[in-house]
Amino acid sequence: MRIYDIIKTKRDGGFLSTGEIEYFIAEYTAGRIPDYQASALLMAIYFSGMNPRETTDLTMAMVNSGERADLSAIEGIIVDKHSTGGVGDKTTLVIAPIVAACGVKVAKMSGRGLGHTGGTVDKLESIPGLQTSIDRDRFIEIVNRTGLCVIGQSGHFAPADKKLYALRDATATVDSIPLIASSIMSKKIASGSHRLLLDVKVGSGSFMKTYKEAETLAKTMVSIGEGLSFRTVALITNMDVPLGCAIGNSLEVVEAVNTLKGIGPEDLTEICVILSANMLYIADKGTLDECKAMAKQAIYSGTALECLKKMVTAQGGDASFIEDTGKFSTARYFRTVTARKDGYITKMNTENCGIASAMLGAGRAEKEDNIDFAAGIMLENKIGAKVQRGEPLATLYAEHEELFDAAAEEFLNAIEIGDKPQEETKIVLGRVEN
Ligand code: URA
Repeated sequence: MRIYDIIKTKRDGGFLSTGEIEYFIAEYTAGRIPDYQASALLMAIYFSGMNPRETTDLTMAMVNSGERADLSAIEGIIVDKHSTGGVGDKTTLVIAPIVAACGVKVAKMSGRGLGHTGGTVDKLESIPGLQTSIDRDRFIEIVNRTGLCVIGQSGHFAPADKKLYALRDATATVDSIPLIASSIMSKKIASGSHRLLLDVKVGSGSFMKTYKEAETLAKTMVSIGEGLSFRTVALITNMDVPLGCAIGNSLEVVEAVNTLKGIGPEDLTEICVILSANMLYIADKGTLDECKAMAKQAIYSGTALECLKKMVTAQGGDASFIEDTGKFSTARYFRTVTARKDGYITKMNTENCGIASAMLGAGRAEKEDNIDFAAGIMLENKIGAKVQRGEPLATLYAEHEELFDAAAEEFLNAIEIGDKPQEETKIVLGRVEN
């Protein structure tokens, strides 16, 4: 087999055999195919696409490039959730405890934030003492004892994806549906859960800018799951507006805790109930309506909040911060940004809201950057709100005053104020299940 022939087949719009895909992934991971040939193949895939069988083969080849978590020592069905990334997306902190409170295990590996999107691991680490780097035996013990544990993604899973992702990033081949779908699904399959709920975000704050693209990605991933007997359901959800009101790590933890206390923002509460219900549904806990009722009950009875506290304690964190979120330290400085004119908020460029938060210190431009847990943005008004010139739109938080000018400008440029109110948009726009 020659990589040259594989590139040529894909360049000319042909289909790669299972063996050719396995050869490419194994040889590239081992360093026996150079980056220039791998780049050429990625570009050929970018233009020619892959059929469902090739996409599933690529996924499995990447799973087999590294370790696969053995979570068989965890009793019962383990359900995972993956979000394609957004701004203010703190749903994992809410839904993992809800699902665990309803008797379904969550053994989750999450990522860190990069660019305009936040990461669950950073948010969790803003709770003093909480560890996200936990060995396998302790991870399993915590899940069996508390019903849930959320740790950082291990580099041992799907190493081919890690190597290919870096190459895609440098060769303008990230936004290819088969490459994104196989990248996400390979990591999820390798990390050992039994069933998966995908939250595919669409809108100005996400990878997928149109509903059509998001739907194609969702269908592709659900079909990979089906081909591998890995039960997968996808929701397509709105990311044209930040989720909830908090953007930034400890600000988001506080908002997630408030949501578990039943006093969170409406949009966040709604999406968390729907996501949790779908996770319970794929774990065979009942019909979607029954699962929705269970999720709501877990919030209003306080059992989900208790699960979060147990998880925080088990992971070495100080659960008194969950009981009393006033203990989180606040940023040294704050600045209120106000509306430049009268009208209705018609648009929020969500990616730019995330960038503004990162500019305040809440996010990273590069993987190695440090983040400031207390920095970020609290939105006072969102799409649809009627505002008057000078009325607060948001409060920005930062450790250094000199960060405000540029971040405030970025944030204000992201907000459009028009004369007519915007029609209300739904949070959940679609659902894909095979
Ligand atoms: N997230 C991933 O894990 N992989 C991609 O290719 C894109 C987003």
